[in-house]
Amino acid sequence: MKLCMFFAFLVIVQLELSISLVESINLQQPLQAITKAPKVILPAEDYLSLTHYLNSCPDVEGIIHQKTKAWFKKDYTLAASLIRLHFHDCAVRGCDGSILLNHPGSERRAKASRTLRGFEVIDDIKAEIERRCPKTVSCTDILTVVARDATVLLGGPFWEVTLGRKDGKTSIAKEAEMVPQGYENVTTLIEFFKSKGLNELDLVILSGSHTIGRSSCYSILHRLAKPDPTLDIQYWKQLRKKCRRGWDLVDLDVTTPKTFDIAYFTNLQKKLGLLSTDSALYTNQMTAAFVDATVSQPSLFESQFAASMVKLGNVQVLTRKNEGEIRLNCNSVNRNY
Ligand code: HEM
Ligand SMILES: *[C@@H]1O[C@H](CO)[C@@H](O)[C@H](O)[C@H]1NC(C)=O
Repeated sequence: MKLCMFFAFLVIVQLELSISLVESINLQQPLQAITKAPKVILPAEDYLSLTHYLNSCPDVEGIIHQKTKAWFKKDYTLAASLIRLHFHDCAVRGCDGSILLNHPGSERRAKASRTLRGFEVIDDIKAEIERRCPKTVSCTDILTVVARDATVLLGGPFWEVTLGRKDGKTSIAKEAEMVPQGYENVTTLIEFFKSKGLNELDLVILSGSHTIGRSSCYSILHRLAKPDPTLDIQYWKQLRKKCRRGWDLVDLDVTTPKTFDIAYFTNLQKKLGLLSTDSALYTNQMTAAFVDATVSQPSLFESQFAASMVKLGNVQVLTRKNEGEIRLNCNSVNRNY
């Protein structure tokens, strides 16, 4: 009998327990507490994904690849220019397509941007993508993928590009003048990169892009006036001959200008860096050590270049609700109707 009472008591207790559980779930209070709890805010780049356009524009990377390849076949020099365009985009206000905006006072109209090229490639790709998947793919994502495809076309490494960057609405010429232009000291270069979340290794490795492409003589005029102790004297003489006018072009990598290789780094060891900012990387203890390390283990260059380019492509991206827009035309912000 006592045992029976005990079991009955147990059942009642359990019933009450479950009732109070149900009640607590129905209660407004605890639920509100859940919804009002501070939301976890992820870093903006965590909202990028490999499947962002999987349903909305499944062939976006195919379209970009085909187009970039076609332009490359017509003019291979565009590949280097497109990689540089991506850098200049990400170096100001993060990767947000602000370099593409073409209005008075925009970054693109700045004096520091006058040797940027490749805009027509982005416009052509954007037009095709708007035909296939209207109002879906950002100009910033297009430029980011193009920079990767251009690298591969040049014989460099491949890396996956996560997508979902939105386009910014602001572009200010004065800000473009803050991107290193080729005469800065290494401290300034390091500081600039750090302000973008990129470290000394990223600085050295990404400068390795100068293994291809060209520079206008404007960017090295300050080195040509008198012999420069950080420049090989024969090379200096050669450059003086080649640079008749400011807009003449010289290869950034004097050894193998058309190959994506580590010659840029061996050049630095031999005082054959074209820009004074290239030479400067071999004057700082830490950056010089990275140059030497790359030369002694060339295979590391490809993998680290890919890793640093991923970091560059994620700088201050606009991915959250109410941030940026999907531009319809890469040259201008959308109108508010
Ligand atoms: C470390 C800071 C950097 C400085 C000071 C710098 C400076 C320059 C300069 C002065 C030029 C030549 C511009 C002209 O025509 O006069 C140039 C070209 C180029 N830069 Fe950089 N750069 C830097 C970093 C980068 C990065 C991070 C990348 C890519 C990720 C890059 C990619 C290129 C490419 C590919 C070219 C050749 C462009 C062409 O052939 O049209 N640079 N850079
Ligand atoms: C590097 O350049 C900056 C800006 O021009 C200057 O303030 C700084 O003193 C320079 N640093 C060195 C170590 O030369």
